[in-house]
Amino acid sequence: MKIKIAPSLLAADSSRLAEEVKSVEKLGIDFLHIDVMDGHFVPNISIGPAIVKDLRPQTDLPFEAHLMIEQPLKYIERFVEAGADIITVHIETISVSDFRKQAGKLHKRGLRLAIALNPRTPAVKIKTLADSADMVLVMTVHPGFGGQKFIYAVVPKIAEIRSFYKGDIAVDGGINDKNAQAAVKAGANVLACGSYIFKAEDKKKAIEKLRNA
Ligand code: DX5
Ligand code: ZN
Repeated sequence: MKIKIAPSLLAADSSRLAEEVKSVEKLGIDFLHIDVMDGHFVPNISIGPAIVKDLRPQTDLPFEAHLMIEQPLKYIERFVEAGADIITVHIETISVSDFRKQAGKLHKRGLRLAIALNPRTPAVKIKTLADSADMVLVMTVHPGFGGQKFIYAVVPKIAEIRSFYKGDIAVDGGINDKNAQAAVKAGANVLACGSYIFKAEDKKKAIEKLRNA
């Protein structure tokens, strides 16, 4: 499968977001990963719909809104209105039936719904969503903060998910060129990656290294 690169805006310089987005857009990345945190589901607060809306006219990149929030159903529409193309919700925050309902609604509008799972959540929890999820996002850190260390113990779960899911499998958290190899070997094909790209001296080189994982 082709490797897709999704830089995570959380690691970008927040005072120059549009510039930061453009700096990675010209390097041929696939979409932008935007981390949304509510201070409840995770112990941190980050980007809201207003920022997504203001960034929307600044780039042609598709936007993925990774909702690390306790009540995703209340906010999906807000992020769609703001310009998100892919919404990612956590299985720890939504029922299987609500996920299916939302996926149906978003698909009708040409939008995508992805399911994320935390490091401690087993693959079986998302198995019944294999037919309706547009992407599975496997957290490789405990969500809440950028710049954490990749948890290698999650790698076997990627392989397990690959055994029943044929679509895009993303890994998110602590990704660098080394552990990306392990993740890709296990079956991941999307690398959501913050610090390794935005804190790199040479973003182009960092992205190339990830692509060759
Ligand atoms: C963690 C976020 C990740 C993270 C990625 O809660 O969902 O997207 O910020 O950033 P790095 O690559 O720095 O871990
Ligand atoms: Zn994320």
